[in-house]
Amino acid sequence: MSAPGKFITLEGVDGAGKSTHLDFVADWLRRQGREVVVTREPGGTPLGETLRELLLHQAMDPDTELLLMFAARQQHLAELILPTLARGAWVVSDRFTDASYAYQCGGRGIAAERIAALEAWVQRGFSPDLTLLFDVPPEVAGARRAAARTADRFEREADSFFSRVRNAYLERAQAEPVRIRVLDARQSIAALQAEIGPLLQALA
Ligand code: TMP
Repeated sequence: MSAPGKFITLEGVDGAGKSTHLDFVADWLRRQGREVVVTREPGGTPLGETLRELLLHQAMDPDTELLLMFAARQQHLAELILPTLARGAWVVSDRFTDASYAYQCGGRGIAAERIAALEAWVQRGFSPDLTLLFDVPPEVAGARRAAARTADRFEREADSFFSRVRNAYLERAQAEPVRIRVLDARQSIAALQAEIGPLLQALA
């Protein structure tokens, strides 16, 4: 049986530009001969994508939002992430549980213990092998969000919400500096990709 694959996640506030780098990460790994599955949260499965529609567009209580994020995550792990890793392919996900700590705890103010309890239940100790955190100052992310044509329920939040989200991400990176690598997303795409390559190399 082949060795299990690795799980890489990309994180950052809305407007940090992380999605631009998703294909780069996947293509880089494929050039190394890896089979790669690219996915996202909330989403990644038919049920998860249905929950994503609700989460992004339907007003709801903050605890409902947190529970639906983890319901989608449970399905994502069971149906896609864990089976894919088990057969030796790598998984690259646009967001995972760090986003719940950043948005639902940092942004919405839900106690971190609640998120930790759901994380323990759903993940049973499983976590990403590498997380790339695309970090930008609030004014840069705010300008990028303002330039976007349509905004979902999260993107319509105030700048102060995104400052809290950013700080929560940075606190997590400080607590887990080996797994979570902070990248200055103000840099050019080429400069960022020059930083990302060696981080992937170290994992491979
Ligand atoms: P995206 O715009 O990066 O696709 O993500 C959708 C939104 O969902 C984004 O604004 C962040 C939010 N989100 C959370 O609030 N908590 C989570 O756990 C996840 C995965 C995403």
